[in-house]
Amino acid sequence: MFPTLTIADIPHHEGKSVTLSGWLYSKRSSGKLAFLQLRDGSGVIQCVVSKADVPPAAFETAQRIGDESSVTVTGTVRADKRSALGFEIGVTDLTALQEARDYPIAAKEHGPAFLMDHRHLWMRTPRQRAVLGIRATLIKSIRDYFDSRGFTLTDAPILTPAACEGTSTLFEVPYFDLGKAFLTQSGQLYGEAAAMAVGKAYVFGPTFRAEKSKTRRHLTEFWMVEPEVAFMDLAGDMDLAEDFIVEIVGRVLEKHRKEIAGLLERDIAALERVQKPFPRITYTEGIERIQQARPETPITWGDDIGGDEETILANQFDRPVLMHHFPSAMKAFYFKHDPTDDNLALGVDVLAPEGFGEILGGGQREDDYDTLLARIDAHKLPREAFGWYLDLRKYGSVPHAGFGLGVERTVAWICGLHHVRETIPFARMMERLTP
Ligand code: 4AD
Ligand code: MG
Repeated sequence: MFPTLTIADIPHHEGKSVTLSGWLYSKRSSGKLAFLQLRDGSGVIQCVVSKADVPPAAFETAQRIGDESSVTVTGTVRADKRSALGFEIGVTDLTALQEARDYPIAAKEHGPAFLMDHRHLWMRTPRQRAVLGIRATLIKSIRDYFDSRGFTLTDAPILTPAACEGTSTLFEVPYFDLGKAFLTQSGQLYGEAAAMAVGKAYVFGPTFRAEKSKTRRHLTEFWMVEPEVAFMDLAGDMDLAEDFIVEIVGRVLEKHRKEIAGLLERDIAALERVQKPFPRITYTEGIERIQQARPETPITWGDDIGGDEETILANQFDRPVLMHHFPSAMKAFYFKHDPTDDNLALGVDVLAPEGFGEILGGGQREDDYDTLLARIDAHKLPREAFGWYLDLRKYGSVPHAGFGLGVERTVAWICGLHHVRETIPFARMMERLTP
């Protein structure tokens, strides 16, 4: 039987003898004393091994073991004002489960490629451990947000017969006698079917894009949450996006304030400003703002707003900005067009502040059968793959809207991380499929 006590519980056991299991994070020793930093995933505690207080074999073990050896330690909990936890262990016994040697990740600086190659070990370090914890809390906050507001979680398939977000970024897989299947780029189309069944649905799962872009914001496999609501228009969708972001950022901040400010050294004030109302600008106004801020590099109406342009816009505001009404030509086939101007699509993007880029994209869907069929043809999509999707416009079609929020970009923003590769346990990118 292993002890169930964790380092996080230690403050409740002052003066008591306890047994902890964990890994040796680091060590310092001198003649008759060894100071072991023990970590167990819940925290780090200093364990002081004094030659006089432990059996000789235990002292030898303490002297010998290398970083990341697995150990069980017994000792007395005593207050220690200097440590972050406020307590340390005066060790009375220690055994090693496995003695590690030459742990590859040292205190010295390693480059990102080395660290990513050793991601399976790198995730043990306190910063990475903190990011994983923040990701887990963000995901729980997302689920709680929708679960407590009458949304029904409806999982979408990962193997799909057709593109949702354009054919250029599809991963193909052989699929028995049926030929080819594709890894989903978005669960949205299935979310729309679900919304017609449950009213308010959300899809939450991994999505895949064979994106040939090696940027700090792109993964080939990422997690997206996609609410979809019947009887909702673009205005309602923007209100939902705003309320949702305020709530989930607040929840993460509440639980991880110390880690975000301390360990990750992120400016907390920037996250505290994530309050309603968010500024709202049209795409057209966005283009004008970019033209004014950067006259040297021309951009014209109809151009894509890339990472650099997003940063220019985001820097003009102190909180996330909602950009809406995009040129319909640059948007996917399913967007409803502005009834007063067919050149505009009823879409919305949310740009995170401080250059973290687009974290959310969505909008109102085309709900008219004939218009959608014409759109499928115009986008050269195979009609037969969309028969079921068109049915939704044949049997009780209603105005509906939704959006997708990328988990990794949101974690990068909240944690202040330059690259999304650190926001997912095992990142998949164009040039990385391991570990
Ligand atoms: O803007 P996107 O492509 O929207 C959709 O897929 C819609 N079908 C969503 C919907 O309306 N239900 O992607 C949504 C979000 C982006 O804002 C971004 O946060 C994230 O997904 N995202 C990526 N994250 C990491 N790596 C990539 N390659 C990403 N592509 C999109
Ligand atoms: Mg988008």
